[in-house]
Amino acid sequence: MIQLSHVIKEYPTRGRALNDVSFRIRKGEFAFLTGHSGSGKSTTLRLIHMADTPSSGEVVVCGFSSERTTQREVWKLRRRVGHVFQDFRLLPGRTAFENVAFALEVTGTSRGEMGNRANRLLAQVGLSVKAGMQVHELSGGEQQRVSIARALANDPLVLLADEPSGNLDERASRGIMELFLDLNTQGMTVLMATHDLELVRAYPDIRILELDEGRLVYDSKTPEAREA
Ligand SMILES: Nc1ncnc2c1ncn2[C@@H]1O[C@H](COP(=O)(O)OP(=O)(O)O)[C@@H](O)[C@H]1O
Ligand SMILES: [Mg+2]
Repeated sequence: MIQLSHVIKEYPTRGRALNDVSFRIRKGEFAFLTGHSGSGKSTTLRLIHMADTPSSGEVVVCGFSSERTTQREVWKLRRRVGHVFQDFRLLPGRTAFENVAFALEVTGTSRGEMGNRANRLLAQVGLSVKAGMQVHELSGGEQQRVSIARALANDPLVLLADEPSGNLDERASRGIMELFLDLNTQGMTVLMATHDLELVRAYPDIRILELDEGRLVYDSKTPEAREA
């Protein structure tokens, strides 16, 4: 579902943000991407979302290769991959419902279908009763739920989450984590970047990929474990 092969990412001013990174995440897997600030987590997610291209090496996501996917085609991949962020990135001055409906409109959902779909997505993230509230009236955890509902509008196969609990307290973080686990149980492939080791430790069964200064230094799913 996601495969990185010898990926190098160089920024003109900063040198190598990623240095020979290779890993593979199968359909339906859940993995944490950990590492200090600046270790390359966001860069990795951006490459997987094809918001940026590797300097060398290859990224393949849902059958789309970074070597062959043109800017004109990248929207096809984006439909398969949802991305949520630490800072939610919601439309201000709009309600939870409007934020989700807008994402549906972009995907070409018909007016008639839109209301039902938006309500269903908000129900899926446990926010039905707050659908009509402005996003600034919602708590951080609720705003993150809206952003997840919006990411689900495309019916993606993969969910990328970049420090989704970075602005949340522990209780809200756990709530978001349980929501991701729920989605994963229903078949969603999830890759979640976080530097919150306490959160990672609370879920010992979830695979850990650790970056350090742009190198993949640890994968809890060792080759031996993979064969078992
Ligand atoms: N657009 C950019 N231009 C230049 N350097 C960048 C850019 N984005 C990230 N970097 C650099 O790449 C490295 C990895 O950053 P990032 O992927 O954001 O790490 P993390 O998400 O783990 O904190 C850092 O040294 C950062 O300064
Ligand atoms: Mg980051």
